[in-house]
Amino acid sequence: MGKKILLSGVKPTGRVHIGNYFGAMKQFVDFQDDYESRIMIADYHALTTVQDASVLKQDILDLVASYLAIGLDPNRVIIFQQSAVAEHLELAWIFNCLTTMPYLARAHAYKDALAKNKEVNVGVFTYPLLMAADILIYDPDVVPVGQDQKQHVEIARDVAEKFNRLFGEAFKLPEPFIPEDVKTVTGLDGQKMSKSYGNTIPLFANEKDLKRLVMTIVTDSKGETEPKNPEECHVFALHKLFSQVDLPELKRRYVEGKIGYRESKEILAHNMNQYLKPMREKYESLLSRPEEIKTVLAAGSERAQVIARAKLERVRELVGVKL
Ligand code: ADP
Ligand code: TRP
Repeated sequence: MGKKILLSGVKPTGRVHIGNYFGAMKQFVDFQDDYESRIMIADYHALTTVQDASVLKQDILDLVASYLAIGLDPNRVIIFQQSAVAEHLELAWIFNCLTTMPYLARAHAYKDALAKNKEVNVGVFTYPLLMAADILIYDPDVVPVGQDQKQHVEIARDVAEKFNRLFGEAFKLPEPFIPEDVKTVTGLDGQKMSKSYGNTIPLFANEKDLKRLVMTIVTDSKGETEPKNPEECHVFALHKLFSQVDLPELKRRYVEGKIGYRESKEILAHNMNQYLKPMREKYESLLSRPEEIKTVLAAGSERAQVIARAKLERVRELVGVKL
Protein backbone atom coordinates (compact mmCIF):
# COMPACT_ATOMS: atom_id res chain seq x y z
CA MET A 1 0.00 0.00 0.00
CA GLY A 2 1.19 3.52 -0.80
CA LYS A 3 1.79 6.21 1.77
CA LYS A 4 -1.11 8.10 3.26
CA ILE A 5 -1.77 11.55 1.87
CA LEU A 6 -1.40 14.84 3.76
CA LEU A 7 -2.71 18.19 2.59
CA SER A 8 -2.41 21.53 4.29
CA GLY A 9 -1.71 25.17 3.69
CA VAL A 10 -1.25 28.61 5.14
CA LYS A 11 -2.35 31.98 3.80
CA PRO A 12 0.37 34.39 2.65
CA THR A 13 -0.67 37.27 4.88
CA GLY A 14 2.55 38.53 6.43
CA ARG A 15 5.52 37.07 8.20
CA VAL A 16 4.84 33.73 9.84
CA HIS A 17 5.07 33.60 13.62
CA ILE A 18 5.91 30.93 16.15
CA GLY A 19 2.19 30.13 16.58
CA ASN A 20 1.91 29.27 12.88
CA TYR A 21 5.09 27.23 13.16
CA PHE A 22 4.25 25.08 16.18
CA GLY A 23 0.51 25.00 15.49
CA ALA A 24 0.72 23.98 11.85
CA MET A 25 3.90 24.29 9.78
CA LYS A 26 6.23 22.18 11.93
CA GLN A 27 3.90 19.21 11.42
CA PHE A 28 4.35 19.55 7.66
CA VAL A 29 8.06 18.96 8.11
CA ASP A 30 7.75 16.26 10.77
CA PHE A 31 5.49 14.24 8.46
CA GLN A 32 7.17 14.70 5.13
CA ASP A 33 8.71 11.23 5.18
CA ASP A 34 5.65 9.42 6.49
CA TYR A 35 3.04 10.97 4.21
CA GLU A 36 2.79 11.96 0.60
CA SER A 37 2.44 15.66 1.30
CA ARG A 38 0.86 18.50 -0.62
CA ILE A 39 1.47 21.90 0.94
CA MET A 40 -0.30 24.92 -0.41
CA ILE A 41 0.13 28.67 -0.46
CA ALA A 42 -3.50 29.71 0.06
CA ASP A 43 -3.25 32.94 -1.91
CA TYR A 44 -6.90 33.10 -2.99
CA HIS A 45 -7.90 32.78 0.65
CA ALA A 46 -5.54 35.65 1.47
CA LEU A 47 -7.41 37.76 -1.07
CA THR A 48 -10.38 37.92 1.31
CA THR A 49 -8.31 40.36 3.37
CA VAL A 50 -5.31 41.55 1.30
CA GLN A 51 -6.04 44.09 -1.40
CA ASP A 52 -2.58 45.25 -2.42
CA ALA A 53 -0.83 43.41 -5.27
CA SER A 54 2.74 44.22 -4.26
CA VAL A 55 2.09 43.13 -0.67
CA LEU A 56 0.50 39.86 -1.78
CA LYS A 57 3.32 39.08 -4.22
CA GLN A 58 5.94 39.59 -1.55
CA ASP A 59 3.98 37.57 1.01
CA ILE A 60 3.70 34.64 -1.42
CA LEU A 61 7.47 34.58 -1.96
CA ASP A 62 7.99 34.99 1.77
CA LEU A 63 5.80 32.03 2.62
CA VAL A 64 7.52 29.73 0.12
CA ALA A 65 10.89 30.82 1.56
CA SER A 66 9.48 30.08 5.03
CA TYR A 67 8.37 26.59 4.05
CA LEU A 68 11.78 25.84 2.57
CA ALA A 69 13.64 27.39 5.50
CA ILE A 70 11.84 25.26 8.08
CA GLY A 71 12.94 22.18 6.17
CA LEU A 72 10.26 21.22 3.67
CA ASP A 73 11.96 19.44 0.83
CA PRO A 74 10.38 20.24 -2.56
CA ASN A 75 11.66 16.92 -3.90
CA ARG A 76 9.58 15.01 -1.39
CA VAL A 77 6.67 17.43 -0.93
CA ILE A 78 4.52 19.19 -3.51
CA ILE A 79 4.69 22.88 -2.56
CA PHE A 80 2.17 24.72 -4.71
CA GLN A 81 0.18 27.88 -5.26
CA GLN A 82 -3.58 27.63 -4.85
CA SER A 83 -4.30 30.21 -7.57
CA ALA A 84 -2.25 28.21 -10.08
CA VAL A 85 -4.72 25.34 -9.87
CA ALA A 86 -7.99 26.77 -11.19
CA GLU A 87 -9.80 23.48 -10.45
CA HIS A 88 -10.02 24.54 -6.79
CA LEU A 89 -12.36 27.38 -7.78
CA GLU A 90 -14.38 25.21 -10.08
CA LEU A 91 -14.96 22.67 -7.33
CA ALA A 92 -15.74 25.44 -4.83
CA TRP A 93 -18.55 26.59 -7.15
CA ILE A 94 -20.00 23.11 -7.24
CA PHE A 95 -19.86 23.04 -3.42
CA ASN A 96 -21.59 26.46 -3.32
CA CYS A 97 -24.47 24.84 -5.10
CA LEU A 98 -24.95 22.06 -2.57
CA THR A 99 -24.43 23.99 0.65
CA THR A 100 -27.15 26.04 2.31
CA MET A 101 -26.75 29.59 3.58
CA PRO A 102 -27.80 28.74 7.19
CA TYR A 103 -25.20 25.95 7.30
CA LEU A 104 -22.38 28.32 6.30
CA ALA A 105 -23.71 31.05 8.58
CA ARG A 106 -22.75 28.83 11.53
CA ALA A 107 -19.01 28.98 10.69
CA HIS A 108 -16.96 30.60 13.49
CA ALA A 109 -14.86 32.81 11.24
CA TYR A 110 -17.95 34.31 9.61
CA LYS A 111 -19.72 34.77 12.93
CA ASP A 112 -16.64 36.47 14.41
CA ALA A 113 -16.41 38.84 11.46
CA LEU A 114 -20.08 39.75 11.89
CA ALA A 115 -19.71 40.17 15.64
CA LYS A 116 -16.80 42.56 15.10
CA ASN A 117 -18.90 44.60 12.70
CA LYS A 118 -16.39 44.00 9.94
CA GLU A 119 -17.43 44.48 6.34
CA VAL A 120 -17.96 40.86 5.33
CA ASN A 121 -17.27 40.12 1.68
CA VAL A 122 -18.80 37.10 -0.05
CA GLY A 123 -15.33 35.51 -0.06
CA VAL A 124 -15.31 35.45 3.74
CA PHE A 125 -18.71 33.78 3.74
CA THR A 126 -17.80 31.05 1.25
CA TYR A 127 -14.21 30.71 2.54
CA PRO A 128 -14.91 27.26 4.05
CA LEU A 129 -16.10 25.92 0.68
CA LEU A 130 -12.97 26.99 -1.16
CA MET A 131 -11.05 25.35 1.66
CA ALA A 132 -13.18 22.22 1.31
CA ALA A 133 -12.27 22.17 -2.38
CA ASP A 134 -8.54 22.67 -1.58
CA ILE A 135 -8.71 19.66 0.66
CA LEU A 136 -11.02 17.27 -1.15
CA ILE A 137 -9.38 17.56 -4.58
CA TYR A 138 -6.28 15.82 -3.20
CA ASP A 139 -7.94 12.96 -1.26
CA PRO A 140 -5.90 13.55 1.90
CA ASP A 141 -6.10 11.24 4.90
CA VAL A 142 -4.95 13.97 7.28
CA VAL A 143 -5.06 17.76 7.32
CA PRO A 144 -2.70 19.17 9.98
CA VAL A 145 -3.92 22.59 11.11
CA GLY A 146 -4.12 24.66 14.28
CA GLN A 147 -7.14 24.41 16.56
CA ASP A 148 -8.87 27.41 14.97
CA GLN A 149 -9.08 25.60 11.62
CA LYS A 150 -10.68 22.44 12.97
CA GLN A 151 -14.20 23.55 12.10
CA HIS A 152 -13.16 24.17 8.50
CA VAL A 153 -11.92 20.60 8.14
CA GLU A 154 -15.18 19.37 9.65
CA ILE A 155 -17.08 21.41 7.07
CA ALA A 156 -14.99 19.77 4.35
CA ARG A 157 -16.02 16.36 5.72
CA ASP A 158 -19.70 17.34 5.70
CA VAL A 159 -19.46 18.63 2.14
CA ALA A 160 -17.69 15.46 1.01
CA GLU A 161 -20.37 13.32 2.61
CA LYS A 162 -23.15 15.29 1.00
CA PHE A 163 -21.54 15.20 -2.45
CA ASN A 164 -20.89 11.46 -2.22
CA ARG A 165 -24.48 10.85 -1.14
CA LEU A 166 -26.02 13.01 -3.88
CA PHE A 167 -23.79 12.28 -6.84
CA GLY A 168 -21.77 9.17 -6.03
CA GLU A 169 -18.42 8.42 -4.40
CA ALA A 170 -15.83 11.02 -5.32
CA PHE A 171 -14.18 12.16 -2.10
CA LYS A 172 -12.36 10.63 0.82
CA LEU A 173 -13.44 12.01 4.23
CA PRO A 174 -10.48 13.94 5.71
CA GLU A 175 -9.46 14.13 9.38
CA PRO A 176 -8.09 17.24 11.06
CA PHE A 177 -4.80 16.56 12.79
CA ILE A 178 -4.04 18.70 15.82
CA PRO A 179 -1.08 17.68 17.96
CA GLU A 180 -2.01 17.19 21.63
CA ASP A 181 0.93 19.05 23.07
CA VAL A 182 0.68 22.22 20.96
CA LYS A 183 -2.91 23.25 20.80
CA THR A 184 -2.61 27.01 20.86
CA VAL A 185 0.52 29.10 21.23
CA THR A 186 0.00 32.18 23.40
CA GLY A 187 1.17 35.59 22.31
CA LEU A 188 2.99 38.40 24.11
CA ASP A 189 -0.21 39.49 25.87
CA GLY A 190 -1.35 36.01 26.87
CA GLN A 191 -4.10 35.79 24.22
CA LYS A 192 -3.78 33.38 21.30
CA MET A 193 -0.82 34.50 19.19
CA SER A 194 -2.23 35.99 15.98
CA LYS A 195 -1.28 38.55 13.38
CA SER A 196 -4.65 40.16 13.92
CA TYR A 197 -3.91 40.79 17.62
CA GLY A 198 -0.46 42.28 17.02
CA ASN A 199 1.00 40.03 19.73
CA THR A 200 3.27 37.80 17.65
CA ILE A 201 6.88 36.75 17.72
CA PRO A 202 7.88 36.40 14.04
CA LEU A 203 9.55 33.08 13.35
CA PHE A 204 12.46 34.77 11.60
CA ALA A 205 12.88 37.83 13.83
CA ASN A 206 16.55 38.70 14.37
CA GLU A 207 18.25 38.08 17.70
CA LYS A 208 17.78 41.64 18.92
CA ASP A 209 14.07 41.75 18.07
CA LEU A 210 13.51 38.33 19.62
CA LYS A 211 14.98 39.54 22.89
CA ARG A 212 13.07 42.82 22.79
CA LEU A 213 9.77 41.01 22.16
CA VAL A 214 10.35 38.33 24.79
CA MET A 215 11.04 41.05 27.40
CA THR A 216 7.53 42.46 26.75
CA ILE A 217 5.66 39.20 27.53
CA VAL A 218 2.99 40.01 30.10
CA THR A 219 3.46 38.45 33.59
CA ASP A 220 1.97 39.01 37.02
CA SER A 221 3.90 41.14 39.52
CA LYS A 222 5.42 38.39 41.70
CA GLY A 223 8.92 39.21 42.94
CA GLU A 224 12.00 37.11 42.30
CA THR A 225 11.78 35.06 45.52
CA GLU A 226 8.07 34.36 45.43
CA PRO A 227 6.95 30.85 44.41
CA LYS A 228 5.29 30.89 40.98
CA ASN A 229 2.96 28.52 39.21
CA PRO A 230 4.65 27.70 35.89
CA GLU A 231 1.34 26.64 34.38
CA GLU A 232 0.00 30.16 34.77
CA CYS A 233 3.01 31.91 33.24
CA HIS A 234 3.06 32.95 29.57
CA VAL A 235 6.87 32.90 29.57
CA PHE A 236 6.88 29.33 30.81
CA ALA A 237 4.36 28.35 28.13
CA LEU A 238 7.01 29.30 25.56
CA HIS A 239 9.78 27.54 27.52
CA LYS A 240 7.81 24.37 26.86
CA LEU A 241 8.47 24.89 23.16
CA PHE A 242 12.04 26.17 23.23
CA SER A 243 13.66 25.05 26.50
CA GLN A 244 13.11 21.28 26.53
CA VAL A 245 16.44 20.49 28.19
CA ASP A 246 16.12 23.16 30.90
CA LEU A 247 12.46 22.48 31.59
CA PRO A 248 12.61 20.40 34.83
CA GLU A 249 15.14 22.82 36.34
CA LEU A 250 13.09 25.87 35.35
CA LYS A 251 9.97 24.28 36.77
CA ARG A 252 11.70 23.61 40.09
CA ARG A 253 12.99 27.18 40.29
CA TYR A 254 9.52 28.58 39.55
CA VAL A 255 7.85 26.48 42.23
CA GLU A 256 10.55 27.19 44.84
CA GLY A 257 10.63 30.93 44.18
CA LYS A 258 14.19 30.81 42.85
CA ILE A 259 13.77 32.65 39.57
CA GLY A 260 12.44 36.07 38.59
CA TYR A 261 10.55 36.79 35.39
CA ARG A 262 13.43 38.84 33.98
CA GLU A 263 15.87 35.94 34.23
CA SER A 264 13.27 33.51 32.91
CA LYS A 265 12.76 35.76 29.87
CA GLU A 266 16.51 36.08 29.30
CA ILE A 267 16.87 32.30 29.28
CA LEU A 268 13.90 32.04 26.92
CA ALA A 269 15.27 34.64 24.48
CA HIS A 270 18.61 32.81 24.44
CA ASN A 271 17.06 29.39 23.83
CA MET A 272 14.71 30.76 21.23
CA ASN A 273 17.57 32.31 19.31
CA GLN A 274 19.56 29.07 19.40
CA TYR A 275 16.57 27.16 18.10
CA LEU A 276 15.56 29.59 15.36
CA LYS A 277 18.94 30.82 14.11
CA PRO A 278 19.63 28.09 11.53
CA MET A 279 16.16 28.48 9.99
CA ARG A 280 16.49 32.27 9.97
CA GLU A 281 19.79 32.09 8.11
CA LYS A 282 18.31 29.81 5.49
CA TYR A 283 15.26 32.05 5.12
CA GLU A 284 17.34 35.17 4.60
CA SER A 285 19.54 33.48 2.07
CA LEU A 286 16.52 32.18 0.12
CA LEU A 287 14.81 35.56 0.04
CA SER A 288 17.79 36.99 -1.75
CA ARG A 289 17.14 34.51 -4.57
CA PRO A 290 13.47 35.07 -5.56
CA GLU A 291 13.89 33.38 -8.97
CA GLU A 292 14.76 30.13 -7.25
CA ILE A 293 11.66 30.42 -5.07
CA LYS A 294 9.48 30.98 -8.13
CA THR A 295 10.94 27.95 -9.87
CA VAL A 296 10.17 25.70 -6.90
CA LEU A 297 6.62 27.01 -6.75
CA ALA A 298 5.97 26.65 -10.49
CA ALA A 299 7.23 23.06 -10.49
CA GLY A 300 5.08 22.14 -7.48
CA SER A 301 2.02 23.81 -8.97
CA GLU A 302 2.38 21.80 -12.17
CA ARG A 303 2.42 18.58 -10.20
CA ALA A 304 -0.66 19.66 -8.21
CA GLN A 305 -2.50 20.56 -11.44
CA VAL A 306 -2.16 17.03 -12.76
CA ILE A 307 -3.84 15.58 -9.66
CA ALA A 308 -6.55 18.24 -9.55
CA ARG A 309 -7.43 17.87 -13.23
CA ALA A 310 -8.02 14.15 -12.88
CA LYS A 311 -10.29 14.66 -9.87
CA LEU A 312 -12.33 17.34 -11.64
CA GLU A 313 -12.86 15.08 -14.64
CA ARG A 314 -14.55 12.61 -12.36
CA VAL A 315 -16.55 15.31 -10.57
CA ARG A 316 -17.81 16.83 -13.84
CA GLU A 317 -18.96 13.45 -14.93
CA LEU A 318 -20.76 12.80 -11.63
CA VAL A 319 -22.61 16.14 -11.57
CA GLY A 320 -23.65 15.79 -15.20
CA VAL A 321 -21.89 18.60 -17.04
CA LYS A 322 -19.58 16.29 -18.92
CA LEU A 323 -21.34 15.05 -22.05
P1 ADP B 1 -2.96 34.38 12.18
O1 ADP B 1 -3.99 34.13 13.26
O2 ADP B 1 -1.71 34.91 12.74
O3 ADP B 1 -3.50 35.23 11.05
P2 ADP B 1 -3.41 32.17 10.40
O4 ADP B 1 -4.87 32.29 10.68
O5 ADP B 1 -2.89 32.60 9.07
O6 ADP B 1 -2.63 32.96 11.56
O7 ADP B 1 -2.98 30.67 10.71
C1 ADP B 1 -2.15 29.85 9.90
C2 ADP B 1 -2.04 28.48 10.55
O8 ADP B 1 -1.37 28.59 11.82
C3 ADP B 1 -3.39 27.83 10.85
O9 ADP B 1 -3.29 26.43 10.66
C4 ADP B 1 -3.60 28.15 12.30
O10 ADP B 1 -4.44 27.22 12.92
C5 ADP B 1 -2.19 28.11 12.87
N1 ADP B 1 -2.06 29.04 14.00
C6 ADP B 1 -2.18 30.37 13.95
N2 ADP B 1 -1.98 30.93 15.16
C7 ADP B 1 -1.75 29.91 16.02
C8 ADP B 1 -1.47 29.82 17.42
N3 ADP B 1 -1.39 30.91 18.18
N4 ADP B 1 -1.29 28.61 17.96
C9 ADP B 1 -1.35 27.49 17.19
N5 ADP B 1 -1.60 27.50 15.87
C10 ADP B 1 -1.80 28.69 15.27
N1 TRP C 1 -7.81 28.52 6.16
C1 TRP C 1 -6.46 28.16 6.49
C2 TRP C 1 -5.88 29.21 7.46
O1 TRP C 1 -6.47 30.25 7.65
C3 TRP C 1 -5.59 28.10 5.26
C4 TRP C 1 -6.06 27.08 4.31
C5 TRP C 1 -6.70 27.28 3.11
C6 TRP C 1 -5.96 25.66 4.47
N2 TRP C 1 -6.98 26.10 2.52
C7 TRP C 1 -6.55 25.09 3.31
C8 TRP C 1 -5.43 24.83 5.48
C9 TRP C 1 -6.64 23.70 3.15
C10 TRP C 1 -5.53 23.45 5.31
C11 TRP C 1 -6.13 22.90 4.17
O2 TRP C 1 -4.85 28.99 8.01
